[in-house]
Amino acid sequence: MRFSAKVSDISKQRAACVIIAVDSKGKLGASGKALDAACGGTIDEILKRGDLGLKLGSTMVIPLTEGPAQRALVVRSGPGALSQAEFRKLASATANAVKGFKDACSYLLELEVDDADIAWQAQQLAAAVGLASYKFTRYQTGADPYPLAKFTLHVPASKMLKTVKAGLAVGAAQASGSNLARELGNLPGNTCTPSYLAAQARAMAKKHPKLTTTVLDGKKMQSLGMGAFLSVAKGSDEPPALIAMHYKGASSSTKPVVLVGKGITFDTGGISLKPGLAMDEMKFDMCGAASVFGVMQAIVELEPALNLVCLVAAAENMPSGGASKPGDIVTSMSGKTIEILNTDAEGRLVLCDTLTYAAKYKPEIIIDVATLTGACVIALGNHATGLYANQDQLAQDLIAAGERTGDRAWRMPLWDEYQTALDSNFADMQNIGGREAGSVTAACFLARFTESYTWAHLDIAGSAWNSGAAKGATGRPVSMLLEYLLQR
Ligand code: BES
Ligand code: MN
Ligand code: ZN
Repeated sequence: MRFSAKVSDISKQRAACVIIAVDSKGKLGASGKALDAACGGTIDEILKRGDLGLKLGSTMVIPLTEGPAQRALVVRSGPGALSQAEFRKLASATANAVKGFKDACSYLLELEVDDADIAWQAQQLAAAVGLASYKFTRYQTGADPYPLAKFTLHVPASKMLKTVKAGLAVGAAQASGSNLARELGNLPGNTCTPSYLAAQARAMAKKHPKLTTTVLDGKKMQSLGMGAFLSVAKGSDEPPALIAMHYKGASSSTKPVVLVGKGITFDTGGISLKPGLAMDEMKFDMCGAASVFGVMQAIVELEPALNLVCLVAAAENMPSGGASKPGDIVTSMSGKTIEILNTDAEGRLVLCDTLTYAAKYKPEIIIDVATLTGACVIALGNHATGLYANQDQLAQDLIAAGERTGDRAWRMPLWDEYQTALDSNFADMQNIGGREAGSVTAACFLARFTESYTWAHLDIAGSAWNSGAAKGATGRPVSMLLEYLLQR
């Protein structure tokens, strides 16, 4: 997708589709009026027939026979200035209505939005268009991707051009990073293995001079003492991989942010086998990893002046004669011993060693992203990512980044009182708490390995993919994390 911004006169704009808004009373904006005048009042006349829905975000395509644009997409806005959520809703409805055309030019920056500047509006529009134009076609014979190849934003005045272009670039990168995360997430487990993810990281590094990749194999992990990580992989024929991607956009004295992604490329539960119903969705258990790939993709496109390390803890969780058994005790890289009471609580096992390893980067901040617990889905559903942090400022910043992008998180507690649920009679800790507060006790487990630095944990079990008819990866929380990194 090519995104661009310019000051343009709608009556002279050549495009498969021009996009204009009409308010709740049927009043067109400045460009809408100009287009209507240029085509002899057709638009107004058709709108008066009342076919366009009154709800915000309703859309209607009007074919044009006069002038250089082939059609007008009219989208219903509100009675006055829109809230951020309303503008986002309008942007996404517009994007869905326009994705079937070859190119489009939007006149929606003329809309007024409360507490948001024009760069934010441009960012939302680009992100919405980029996200709507994604389709998983890799294994579908004859399926075409959406045709939309070019999206232009009309800028009301030339003095706004620079800031609109900046917002546009961020929104485009946000979408391209999210779409990479969706593609990796949607890939089946027999394609997307730990080795596949490692190859993906190597390929990205080859393309971008500021990016380097190293991959630790099982042998190297063994020598580092990663007994928890390896206990997950040992039931599978697929070798594990700890992938490190390093983006250097600032001086080496600038401490990096480290993102850690859970990359269980398929989670059967292991010997604590999951029930069969919907088990296919456990191919999405690497969506944390996919999201850190997505963030890295967006960062190499934007090349901001920061240092970022992305670590991916990749393994497959299978039952076999070589698999870990309930009651097994393993020693983590930190030296702490763990009694594996349930082999299905494998995410925390690969993450704890990766979080210990992450300290070697002397990071400013570490954030892990994981489809960690079914309990998080019960607690928050799919609207919010579960957020845990050992520092208030970090929690606030992530929540704010989520609000600005609509990719929201909700903070959950990490109180000491929950820690006792992890006490074991046989080791330093066990890998599961009780039935209660399952997302919290999983986070508390990780907290035992992150005491030496500022850390947040994002449980994306609910937000990373949709089930049902629209089954597929969402690309969350790429938008939130990218926004967080750029605002720092
Ligand atoms: N990957 C799952 C979590 C999950 C389950 C995410 C369903 C989304 C939907 C994780 O590895 C897991 O199996 N967690 C267990 C933990 C339990 C054994 C303490 C769970 O949530 O049931
Ligand atoms: Mn599991
Ligand atoms: Zn899992």
